[in-house]
Amino acid sequence: MRLHDKVAIVTGGDSGIGKAIATVMAQEGARVAIDYVGDPAPANALVDEIENFGGRACAVQADISKPDDVSRLVSETVKHFGKLDILVNNAGVEEKYPFLEMPFEVYQKVIDIDLTGPWLCSQSAAKQMVRQKTPGRIINISSVHEELTMPTNAPYCAAKGGLRMLMRTIAVELAPHGITVNNVCPGAVDTPMDEKLKQDKAQYEKLLKEIPLGRMAKPEEIASLVCYLASDEAAYITGASYVIDGGMTKKSGSL
Ligand SMILES: NC(=O)c1ccc[n+]([C@@H]2O[C@H](COP(=O)([O-])OP(=O)(O)OC[C@H]3O[C@@H](n4cnc5c(N)ncnc54)[C@H](O)[C@@H]3O)[C@@H](O)[C@H]2O)c1
Repeated sequence: MRLHDKVAIVTGGDSGIGKAIATVMAQEGARVAIDYVGDPAPANALVDEIENFGGRACAVQADISKPDDVSRLVSETVKHFGKLDILVNNAGVEEKYPFLEMPFEVYQKVIDIDLTGPWLCSQSAAKQMVRQKTPGRIINISSVHEELTMPTNAPYCAAKGGLRMLMRTIAVELAPHGITVNNVCPGAVDTPMDEKLKQDKAQYEKLLKEIPLGRMAKPEEIASLVCYLASDEAAYITGASYVIDGGMTKKSGSL
């Protein structure tokens, strides 16, 4: 088991990609704190699912855009499992408006969750790892949009672009502590986030035509890469962005 004896936090771990990451990490031997915001039922159900196959997990309510919630997320994880080795900054939102019509509140909300959230979680987790004097892993679920433009989605693109430079900068600062920091950049993944798009048949067909492999990614395929980056095998990888997009960005010639 690649993550035997490790303790991980997965933010937004109760849905989509985060749920797959929490599940696969638990299958690989990690004890997993599943962060959620709002309804506790899906996170509690996932804890049961993991415990049913012999894994270990707990659910922690924390809004990652709030500093006090984030400190509590880390301290409750450590109280529960004794330490912290891996942080997966997965939680994220997007809200699409043409730039000229975008309300400021929408911009602020997306930046708070998609950029400030990973900043807060990374700082809090890294402080804990440094206190423990153990190596650590921070993995951000970014997007091909840390590089690629997407009209009507400016705050999301700004947040993911910011996450790229946040990752690179703190990778350098945290390297002396043995903490690696990397981004995973999916293209289109079959999760609730893309549900609206899938319902629009014409848009969905158009998207599939843009993907050389001809389909969206399964959340488990993203989770598999995240597990590798979280494992001891990936100890020499830091400051890097990994595109996982079925060839989409190569077709359009960007990235
Ligand atoms: N689905 C895709 O095609 C795709 C592509 C590229 C990148 N991503 C990224 O993957 C990540 C996961 O997205 P997903 O597709 O699984 O979507 P999802 O909507 O299924 O999951 C998002 C999760 O984030 C949580 N969340 C939202 N605001 C939060 C907050 N303030 N505090 C804590 N948790 C919060 C939600 O509750 C949910 O659990 C996101 O960062 C997203 O940008 C998704």
